[in-house]
Amino acid sequence: MKKIGFLGCGKIGQALLKHVKEEGYGEIVFIEDPYVELSGEPVIRKAEESAYEKAELIVECATADVLKEHIDIILKHADLLMFSVTAFSDAEFAQYADTLCRKYNRRIFLPHGAILGLDGIFDGRKVWKEVSIITTKSSKSLGREDKERTVVYEGPTREACRLYPRNVNVHAAIALAGIGFDKTHSKIISDPAVSTNAHTIQLKGDGINITMNIESFAAGAVTGAYTPHSACGSIDRICKETAGKMFV
Ligand SMILES: NC(=O)c1ccc[n+]([C@@H]2O[C@H](COP(=O)([O-])OP(=O)(O)OC[C@H]3O[C@@H](n4cnc5c(N)ncnc54)[C@H](O)[C@@H]3O)[C@@H](O)[C@H]2O)c1
Repeated sequence: MKKIGFLGCGKIGQALLKHVKEEGYGEIVFIEDPYVELSGEPVIRKAEESAYEKAELIVECATADVLKEHIDIILKHADLLMFSVTAFSDAEFAQYADTLCRKYNRRIFLPHGAILGLDGIFDGRKVWKEVSIITTKSSKSLGREDKERTVVYEGPTREACRLYPRNVNVHAAIALAGIGFDKTHSKIISDPAVSTNAHTIQLKGDGINITMNIESFAAGAVTGAYTPHSACGSIDRICKETAGKMFV
C-alpha cells in the first residue's frame, strides 16, 4: 500500500485515480488541482508542504511548468510518476531533477504514455544512429486554426518541446530514452481533418531498422484514447505487489 498524491487530475489523472482505488494500491493523500471538481476526493487547490510530507509517490498529470514549480517539494518527500515529460527538454531543469534524486534517493518513473516501447528504445540507446518522430494532430489539439494540412515544425526535438510543450511529450520521452533532445528529429503536422493523434517513429542503427505507427482517437484533445490505459499499466508496474507474470 502506497500513500499517493496527485498533482493535476484531468483526463489522465482521473483515469489513474479510478484505477488506483479499484486496485486498492494505496491511500490518496491529496489531489492538488486549482480547477478540478471531484466530489468526495481530497482536492486541495494549492497544497502546503505538509501534504507532500505524507506522500510516498506523487503522480504528476498537470503541465510541464507546474511540474517544474513543484519539483523541489515533490522529490524532497516522494518518488515521482510524471506525464509532462517535455519539462526535461530544459537541460538545466533535467540536471537539477537528477541532483534532487541523488540528494533524496528518489526515483522518477517515466511512462510510455501515448506510444509503445520506451524500454526498447532505451535498451538500444548506444546503437541508434538516427531517431525521428512525425506527429500529426488536429489543428485544435495544437491550439491552431489551420484550414489545411500544415507542417508547423521540423527540426531538433528540444525546440519542438519549447514550442508545443503540451503536445510532444512523446517526442521528449523518445529523446530521453534514446539519443537526446538535440539529435532526435521532430516533425509536427497540424491537420484540421484528423480526429486522432498519430505518431510515426523511426529508429535506425547498424543492421537495425524499426518503424512504429501509433494512432489514437483524440477528438481535438491533447491526450488520445490509448494514454489513460497505458498510464494505468505504468502505475500497475510501480505498485503491484502480487505474485504472477510481469512484462519487463
Ligand atoms: N507522456 C505522454 O505520452 C503524454 C500523453 C498525453 C498527455 N501528456 C501530458 O500529461 C499531462 C496531463 O494530461 P491530461 O490529458 O490529463 O491533461 P488535462 O488538461 O486533462 O489535465 C490537466 C490537469 O491539470 C490541472 N492543473 C492546471 N494547473 C494546475 C496547477 N497549477 N497545479 C495542479 N494542477 C493543475 C488542470 O486543472 C487539469 O485538471 C499534460 O502535460 C499532457 O501534455 C503526456
